[in-house]
Amino acid sequence: MSTTVTVVGLGKIGLPLAAVFAKNGFHVYGADINKDVVHMINSGISHVKNEPGLDELVREAYIQKKLEATSDTVKAVSKSNIVIVIVPVLIDNKNEVDYRFIDSAVRDIAQGIKKGTLVIFETTLPTGDTRNRFGKKIEETSGLKMGTDFYLAYSPERVYSNRIIQDLSNYPKVIGALNEKSLELSSDFYQKSLGCNLIKVSSLETAEFSKVAECVYRDVNIALANELAQFADLKGVNMLEVIEASNSQPFSNIHYPGIGVGGHCIPIYPYFFINRGLKNGLTQLAREVNDTMASYAIKKIETSIGSLQNQNVLILGLAFRENVKETTKSSTLLLINHLKEKQANVFLNDPLFTDNELANYNGLPLSLNDTLTSKIDVIILQAFHKSYESLNFNKFINCKVILDGRNSLNKEEISKLGIQYYGIGK
Ligand SMILES: NC(=O)c1ccc[n+]([C@@H]2O[C@H](COP(=O)([O-])OP(=O)(O)OC[C@H]3O[C@@H](n4cnc5c(N)ncnc54)[C@H](O)[C@@H]3O)[C@@H](O)[C@H]2O)c1
Repeated sequence: MSTTVTVVGLGKIGLPLAAVFAKNGFHVYGADINKDVVHMINSGISHVKNEPGLDELVREAYIQKKLEATSDTVKAVSKSNIVIVIVPVLIDNKNEVDYRFIDSAVRDIAQGIKKGTLVIFETTLPTGDTRNRFGKKIEETSGLKMGTDFYLAYSPERVYSNRIIQDLSNYPKVIGALNEKSLELSSDFYQKSLGCNLIKVSSLETAEFSKVAECVYRDVNIALANELAQFADLKGVNMLEVIEASNSQPFSNIHYPGIGVGGHCIPIYPYFFINRGLKNGLTQLAREVNDTMASYAIKKIETSIGSLQNQNVLILGLAFRENVKETTKSSTLLLINHLKEKQANVFLNDPLFTDNELANYNGLPLSLNDTLTSKIDVIILQAFHKSYESLNFNKFINCKVILDGRNSLNKEEISKLGIQYYGIGK
């Protein structure tokens, strides 16, 4: 019997997964509640941009009739032997886990599932959820028993935007499963569908924990770099020089400081530990340190030029990091709030967003060709997109300060223009 796979959630991660499975010979249903996404994929067009190789894979899967998108998750699941869940779990504005999307997806899966199906969760989850929240829900609704009637595994998705297709075959896939049979089926599937190395761990919970631990590790280490950078500023020491010197010792791996940590993963998943008992420790402190970097940067500017009231402040980069069109938890959102409190006039530039899109973020879109650039008083670099590498600041004839939140700009050239340059720890 040939294997049919349903990928539930055709977003930035789900679509590349579905397309790679299709390329490697599986018949794939992609289930998504967004009708526009379904329509585009069923026309052979990827709605996810800036992902090398994806456009071609989606087109090819369409031509070969290997990938079919649908809004009917129940039906797709009923025709599949394997179901991959890659629908987001987020946090709300009180940092509580928000299960809205995935609970609804699991309800559909539970209605469609048939005997013998393997369900693999790839979405980052609080430890224990695959078994206790979702496995149980599927049992209750379907009347099937996990481990014997249907199989259950967890395999975190750890790829990096902009190189997802490459990472899918290069990164080892961590797999935890409910029982031997679930592990055997899921390992066999990933071997055939991704061809990557596998790391089989002893439980669902170990696999779930390992993904959140990776994010906490990064967050805590970035917070350490940020704390040291602030102290280096105080001592008049260049933190970047310090990092190079310190990291020549093989056990030292000091990360790079910056204006904040954004995105889908690092600022979000630590709360999957914090909210479930890991309170008042380094994990929580790191979140606080990293989220105060935006106000730290603004204080640096104020120390240099005084009040920001009525000053024209341009933020370069709405995206949370360079070269991705993604605003989740972007430090720019924190910067905008702080600058508005200071009654500054906020301008936004990001080559990856249209003016209409930028206008949704409480700042005025500003093209770098606009004559208004001559009226900008302060520039904050938040995401160092490729096109900013060649940016010439001489058009900013009234600019007094540039705050380089990613320590990426050329200090000497900026200083030559008579503009004060500040980095983070630099
Ligand atoms: N984006 C990243 O860089 C990244 C990296 C590693 C892991 N992840 C993991 O991947 C998960 C998904 O991230 P993403 O970036 O693909 O998200 P995304 O927001 O780009 O896409 C999610 C998709 O799920 C769909 N969806 C929502 N509810 C649904 C439902 N009930 N049924 C079917 N479809 C539904 C949405 O319409 C959307 O197309 C994250 O939660 C995270 O755990 C993401």
